[in-house]
Amino acid sequence: MGLFDSAQDVLGRAGEALDKGVVAARGAVSGMAVEQHAVARGFARVCKEGWRQGWHERNGGNLTCLLSAEQVEQCASFFYTTPSSWVPFSQEVPCLAGRVLLTTAAGAHLRNVPDALEENAGMVEVSSDGSAWRIVWGFRNEGRPTSEISAHASCLAARQAAGFARASVVYHAHPSNLIALTLLRSWDSARLTRTLWESMAEGIIAAPYGVCVAGWITPGTPELAQACQDAMETANALVMAQHGVFCCGYDFDDAFSTVHTLEKAAGIYLTARAANGGSDDFENGIPLEGLRDLAQRYNLPVNWEFLEG
Ligand code: 13P
Ligand code: ZN
Repeated sequence: MGLFDSAQDVLGRAGEALDKGVVAARGAVSGMAVEQHAVARGFARVCKEGWRQGWHERNGGNLTCLLSAEQVEQCASFFYTTPSSWVPFSQEVPCLAGRVLLTTAAGAHLRNVPDALEENAGMVEVSSDGSAWRIVWGFRNEGRPTSEISAHASCLAARQAAGFARASVVYHAHPSNLIALTLLRSWDSARLTRTLWESMAEGIIAAPYGVCVAGWITPGTPELAQACQDAMETANALVMAQHGVFCCGYDFDDAFSTVHTLEKAAGIYLTARAANGGSDDFENGIPLEGLRDLAQRYNLPVNWEFLEG
């Protein structure tokens, strides 16, 4: 396996710290600090705003941004001279070969990201065949990428394979209303999508491809990464029962706002249901015709299959 012998080695020692090459930073670096570049500030802002919304208890949630060549160039002088060993993804992502991801650290409390980016986040380079990652910047103090790094890479790969070449941000949050919704019943994707679309006008605008839903899956597992990949082949949002939501966007605003809108729609639904004596038999949701009008007026690429479930 050549290049990836060391990745297998690390996998075999799961749980141990990555090799010490990662802490050997360049002696002389030049240019504006990583933290000051727009991409780093945008990244930190999502973490801060998500915390303010109450979506990131403890280390809940994580964030990844696929860097452009220009962004990599801006930060490259700060990269470690000796990156970490290669670590395999749970599923290969050939379309991300050679790319660099800025991602939160496993166990990081997202509210701390703006104050100490290099400790609570870092950058990983994807191997030339898309099978593994290695640390090139950040994750100070024995840190490592989020336990969902494979899920995030799979989200990006699936969106890109589906034709969304500009998909570059994956945001995972634990918003209360979307999670509460999953306690009510075992949703299928069509029913959940219809519920969110009918509850508030912005729902179909934020998630025209629909909202996928998965049952309970243990966080940080290859099964979760697989569910992300399956969902993101058709939609840019996946609700995980009793856990949270993953959204993929073109940029930080797109990913954050999709989570925000779906969470608000879920809150409206739950509030109306409580006011309706617990029943979901509402007198006045957005009618199908109303959704069609919205789709036409805003030129939305709506997946109507989600209204047939
Ligand atoms: P990490 O701390 O590994 O990012 O995990 C947080 C989380 O939300 C897992 O689903
Ligand atoms: Zn989570």
